[in-house]
Amino acid sequence: MRILIGDIPKIDPMRIDDYLAVGGYAALAKALSKMTPDQVLDEVKKANLRGRGGGGFPAGLKWETTRNAPEKTKYVIVNGHEGESAAFMDRAMLTGNPHKVLEGLIIGGYAIGAQQGFIYTRHDSPQMAEHLQAALAQAAEYGLLGKNILGSGFDFVVELHYDVGIFVSGESSALMRSIEGNAPEPRPKYIRTSVSGIWDKPSNLNNVETWANVPEIINRGAAWFTSIGSEKSKGTKLVSLSGHVVNSGVIEVPMGTPLRTIVFDIGGGVPGGKTPKAIHFGGAMGGSIPISLVDAPLDFDGMAKLGAPIGAGGLLVMDEDTDMVEVARYLLDFLVKESCGKCVPCREGMHQMLKILTNIKEGRGRKFDLERLADLIDVTSLGSLCALGKTSSDPLKSMLRYFKGEYEARIAAAGSEAK
Ligand SMILES: Cc1cc2nc3c(=O)[nH]c(=O)nc-3n(C[C@H](O)[C@H](O)[C@H](O)COP(=O)(O)O)c2cc1C
Repeated sequence: MRILIGDIPKIDPMRIDDYLAVGGYAALAKALSKMTPDQVLDEVKKANLRGRGGGGFPAGLKWETTRNAPEKTKYVIVNGHEGESAAFMDRAMLTGNPHKVLEGLIIGGYAIGAQQGFIYTRHDSPQMAEHLQAALAQAAEYGLLGKNILGSGFDFVVELHYDVGIFVSGESSALMRSIEGNAPEPRPKYIRTSVSGIWDKPSNLNNVETWANVPEIINRGAAWFTSIGSEKSKGTKLVSLSGHVVNSGVIEVPMGTPLRTIVFDIGGGVPGGKTPKAIHFGGAMGGSIPISLVDAPLDFDGMAKLGAPIGAGGLLVMDEDTDMVEVARYLLDFLVKESCGKCVPCREGMHQMLKILTNIKEGRGRKFDLERLADLIDVTSLGSLCALGKTSSDPLKSMLRYFKGEYEARIAAAGSEAK
């Protein structure tokens, strides 16, 4: 169900006229000429659009918080950092149809009462940067950005900002520090960024895919949007499918689609006649489930309960030969290198977990290692400042839930009981 990416093969993303020819900017025209900001906000709330960047937080509620914050200066931001491993949907969206995301952002700016938007994206994707720069220039030339947009009296500008190649800069408060020109370090969230973000002004951040849904909701209405998906997860989801799977790439399916359909019907199953073993969602802060759970539906809450939250939508298929100790070790190694180092539970806790996992992997596991890992999981999950540390043990938690036997066997094989 290619609602978000269906136009990509039809248009040249460097030409705004192509986007206009497939109905682009009709939603913006409708919002500015026929709807008040409150009505736009109401439609997004009724659609129950949940953030696609990992948390699944209702977009309308976040928009409302920024809109109701007392300061006049407000910002809206596209999170196009996409640091999650095995995730490449946002890049496909921003490269293939940048105007769709931009249109969503302008509509959001109008509903929220923002005067400026930012697109925060990767520094290492020159084609995406070229398409975004062209989209911004052409939208300004056509009067879709700048002063008095489409004669509505609404003024709005957008600035492109490149990341600094650090995973944590995708985290909301770190991203906003980065836009200010500071080091991208997260801060405690006792005051939300939607109330105090860039330069301490109310700032609403949403993922690329979240923004891309907005023009569709305004064009076709909340009732249409909520007719697609599962009970609590509405609309479609972009998934980047990779790993041991015949067909890899970006797909779009209705929320609620069984994972079996994604892995076997769309993905074509595992190559080389091998048996699938596990499915991993959500990159280094996600989790793995055994293939026996492949009939689970793609749903924010359901997948989180199973221990493999959807995250941004990176789905990795793993075959029978996959070493589940190494999967957790590898993902944690990535996070250890990406920790900003600001808080001790994340910086030291992850480091100690990695040491133990490396020992288990390399045949030096000891009897009490799993208990120590359980303690470290508690410390990092409860004590870390931001979600990088808090969820760093999520892959390991899922391993100990579903694949504990492999860990125990490694430790036993190390002959360490006697130590
Ligand atoms: C370490 C870390 C990295 C993150 N990276 C991204 C990212 O690349 N893209 C993204 O949209 N959200 C990322 N997030 C989540 C954002 O903090 C934020 O929740 C999200 O952009 C909000 O958008 P949404 O409500 O539309 O999902 C990251 C969070 C953490 C803790």
